[in-house]
Amino acid sequence: MPIPVILDCDPGTDDALAIFLALASPELSVLAITVAGGNAGLDHTLANALALIALAGSSVPVHAGADRPLLGCFTSEPRVHGETGLGGVVLPAGGPPAPGIATDVIRRILREAAEPVTLIGIGPATNLALALTTEPALAAKVQQIVLMSGAWAEGNITPAAEFNAISDPEALAILLACGRPVVFATLELTAQALVTPACIAAWRGLGSGRCLRAACDIQATVPASRRLGGTGAPLHDPCAVAWLIRPELFTFRRCSVRMDLGPGPSRGRTLIDRWDRTGEPHNAVVLETLDAPGFFDLLGQRLAQLP
Ligand code: RIB
Ligand code: CA
Repeated sequence: MPIPVILDCDPGTDDALAIFLALASPELSVLAITVAGGNAGLDHTLANALALIALAGSSVPVHAGADRPLLGCFTSEPRVHGETGLGGVVLPAGGPPAPGIATDVIRRILREAAEPVTLIGIGPATNLALALTTEPALAAKVQQIVLMSGAWAEGNITPAAEFNAISDPEALAILLACGRPVVFATLELTAQALVTPACIAAWRGLGSGRCLRAACDIQATVPASRRLGGTGAPLHDPCAVAWLIRPELFTFRRCSVRMDLGPGPSRGRTLIDRWDRTGEPHNAVVLETLDAPGFFDLLGQRLAQLP
């Protein structure tokens, strides 16, 4: 039976490939896509999600969500995603968003679900946190929460913090305290999914569908990561989706994860206790290694199956 999921995102170049992967995978039943600001403003991330869904010929409802974190405001990341969020690639406009704001829709789906639903978070965790704080009992209807977020060590926004985590640290802390398992695809995991021009060229050879072309065009705009040696760009968000589709591509460990919510230079840091130094309860699963060739093959095959 396909896994029922809600995909919360901030498209976002890597979000785009994650959305395509989720839509193309029979292992998942995407009940809704909810959108927050993050990589770009909500006006752009929402329009991007709608355009991606339309390009894929999907009827999955897309709902607008938070345009700011629980505290403060989002800071876009145009260096990676461009001003409009898809690296400057212009897609045909999608349709209108579905009625209902993200947090209400997430709660409604959970409340009405006959079986627990998996929450996938590949942007700031604001929408997911708002749903679970306004109706905490719904955590019982959450199978697990799978996030691209955080880092054991070095961040990609500050030395301490990864983009999704620092965009709304309080929201991430709420998810960590909700009582359901939280799975992390951290920067150390996604650094193993380094996309090179040769990888994109190989994907282009797999088909001629508009989604495959768009995915390759979008990914080709992402600059190589200096942090990772300048040879390729880490493909963050599809790693979270791939965990649900092919868990055998990964290894993981259970451990405690806490948030640094202070105002100082380490705000937004995920304190991932991989060696049980604190004795804190294990509230998370942290993905550790990735079979990168297997991951890229999976992604290429699924992208080629889309229209
Ligand atoms: O740090 C990478 C994460 O932040 C990814 O989800 C990317 O899309 C951005 O949202
Ligand atoms: Ca994202």
